[in-house]
Amino acid sequence: MKILITYYTKTQTTSEAAGEIAGILKQQNHEVDIIPLASVSGMESYEAVVIGAPINAMNWHPDATRFVETHREALSKIPVAYYFMSYLLYTGRTFWKKIIRKSLKKVSTVVSPVSVGMFGGKVDKAFPAPARLLFGVAKQAPSDVRDMETVRIWAKELSAKMANPQIIQQKRNELSE
Ligand SMILES: Cc1cc2nc3c(=O)[nH]c(=O)nc-3n(C[C@H](O)[C@H](O)[C@H](O)COP(=O)(O)O)c2cc1C
Repeated sequence: MKILITYYTKTQTTSEAAGEIAGILKQQNHEVDIIPLASVSGMESYEAVVIGAPINAMNWHPDATRFVETHREALSKIPVAYYFMSYLLYTGRTFWKKIIRKSLKKVSTVVSPVSVGMFGGKVDKAFPAPARLLFGVAKQAPSDVRDMETVRIWAKELSAKMANPQIIQQKRNELSE
């Protein structure tokens, strides 16, 4: 398959994950382009698309959501996968983790994905005490919770899902639960 991996990033963790995903898909003999969201001109030549962005304010970055809405028609015709990088999914209070896990529910009704990857990210600075209290982050929590092995494992399972239309329906059911 010819696959586009497109992403929004601010501090490069999402683009780093894009590189890992591309590496695995290339090993599986796919042709892969990695292009930032803002530079994608069209998707006509791709047979599948992977879209990545960080979680900001408990939501997938709005540029990614907007991208899906803008390209809804083209994306609806091919297998699409989403992934996000999140700090609080691994360090925060259960309340926030639940919100983050559901954060792609709405965009998944715009274009249903075959898979959603949820990965640890990093923050540049330690959280100040009031934020730690609000989000439930322990004082000794690491600022970097990336795990590229998890990203690679997800990527390894992706191409089979992209080739299987039944998975699309299954994923839709899962997300509406
Ligand atoms: C302004 C801002 C808001 C953020 N909000 C959240 C959030 O609500 N939940 C979360 O889990 N991580 C949040 N983060 C952490 C990042 O999304 C995350 O750790 C990620 O690795 C950053 O991706 P990037 O390096 O590709 O920009 C936030 C980071 C920034 C800079």
